[in-house]
Amino acid sequence: MPERTDIMEKIVALCRRRGFIFGSSEIYGGIGGFWDYGPLGCELKKNIKDVWWADMVRNPPPGPDNREFQMVGVDCSIIMNPKVWEASGHVGGFSDPMRDCKSCKLRFRGDYLCRVGLVRCEPTDDIHDLLASIQGCVADVTFLAECAPGCSIEELKPLIKRVLGAKRVELRFVPQNNAPDGTTITYCVADGKTYYVASRFTGQSTRDLDECPTCGGELTEARAFNLMFQTHVGAVQDESSIAYLRPETAQGIFANFKNVMDSTRVKIPFGIAQVGKAFRNEINPRNFTFRSREFEQMEIEFFCHPSESRMWYEYWRDVRKGWYTSLGIKSDKLRPREQSKEELAHYSCGTTDIEYLFPFSDEPQELEGVAHRGDFDLKAHGKHSRGDENAFAVLVEETKERFVPHVIEPSAGADRFTLAVICEAYSYDESRASPEFMKFHPRLAPIKAAVFPLVAKDGLPEIADPIFREIKKHFPCQYDAKQSIGKRYARMDEAGTPFCFTIDGQTKEDGTVTVRTRDDASQIRIDKSRCLEYLRDQLHL
Ligand code: GAP
Repeated sequence: MPERTDIMEKIVALCRRRGFIFGSSEIYGGIGGFWDYGPLGCELKKNIKDVWWADMVRNPPPGPDNREFQMVGVDCSIIMNPKVWEASGHVGGFSDPMRDCKSCKLRFRGDYLCRVGLVRCEPTDDIHDLLASIQGCVADVTFLAECAPGCSIEELKPLIKRVLGAKRVELRFVPQNNAPDGTTITYCVADGKTYYVASRFTGQSTRDLDECPTCGGELTEARAFNLMFQTHVGAVQDESSIAYLRPETAQGIFANFKNVMDSTRVKIPFGIAQVGKAFRNEINPRNFTFRSREFEQMEIEFFCHPSESRMWYEYWRDVRKGWYTSLGIKSDKLRPREQSKEELAHYSCGTTDIEYLFPFSDEPQELEGVAHRGDFDLKAHGKHSRGDENAFAVLVEETKERFVPHVIEPSAGADRFTLAVICEAYSYDESRASPEFMKFHPRLAPIKAAVFPLVAKDGLPEIADPIFREIKKHFPCQYDAKQSIGKRYARMDEAGTPFCFTIDGQTKEDGTVTVRTRDDASQIRIDKSRCLEYLRDQLHL
């Protein structure tokens, strides 16, 4: 296995090479914090969202004491009435601290610092040597300036112009798979000289800085920078038409709580789920898709009686951790971490972060938060929309008790979990002809099987064809008749395909095909009529 620090680089390269994940709008130099999923990646992410929906909404595990309960879904608009975000506290409080330089106008995140280094070099220089020389000795490079890694090429241009005093700056991104972990590189030609630009997270705190690290100018105090993306609704662009792209899917659920209660026969306790896009203008998008500006969430708001809220909180915390384990995330990389009192949001009486040890970090990072939100949200929306914080109280017929339900919120990131699944699946075995392969859990694997005629002649495609057609009706399956069989297996290994069926000369004699297993590259022969049945048995799907 490569060194841990190299693994991320290899994963990013494989994702790009095999069409899991690309940088968004790469042909124009990309845009920081936005990503596109390619053919394999979109199948993988879709499987993750479908499995979540199947396991949490359609068929959740029975509740405490084997109690059945209802789960329903909603699919709300991304842009909502801005009052939703006032009520939720996002307009006032959803922000990161920022410090600006009063002279050069550069902006730094208030809690840490990132640097861009420009290194003088010739186009013929070896990029790997160059980056090796930058890594760990950022202070040695020709110039240091602050800027968020992953910032767009357009954001970089004025900075570089100012630094180099150059009239002409052309910038091109070097493919990210050439970059060491945590670094993005840009190829820059300024007034005939060639530079490489590498941006890199230094982890240094800016809180204690007295002056701008670039020009020595005076820094402002840390100021709140709201993370919501703003837009305008309608023809007039003024204060009154401001709207926001939702930064979480949860508020659509709260805003529809009464609609769902009134239009269905759900009874407390029950949950409402939603999967959908969320947008945050993150100051420092980084670590591949881990922190993006556009991402998808898989959220549940579970409404229960206050007296049972602790029990449901523990239920969801355990169910959610178990779900990750059931999909092949090894327990030594998965950590439920109960937030300390200081970390808790003011309304929360308990939150557990379910964390995963990604290769880019020494510490586990959040995949999902399971939060006990009390009655904060329904009361806030009751107050802001109806002037009565008890407006969304429910009545229990039998006891005539009226109460505002408490909420348990398991909130997961679809992109973060996709990245965790990719990192967990990444396997390296030097003894194999092609060492890199992806050990996806069968439920998540983008392609479940492949069918290969050993050669594209001698009647083999005629036997392979009906096998492929039969499997494809039930499972995502690919047919490939080109290249050597070793190369075809290697391609399927990189795509994480659990089984390949090969039709060869022997098939014509005794009707058997080779089944080749991804994980141990073992091969057995089975009757050609049993391919689909074999796949069903092995995949347990
Ligand atoms: N409604 C609660 C909520 O949104 P959060 O902790 O801010 O809570 C929940 O987000 C999950 O959404 C996170 O655990 C993470 O998986 C995902 N997430 C949040 N910000 C993200 C970002 N910038 N990029 C990718 N995923 C993100």
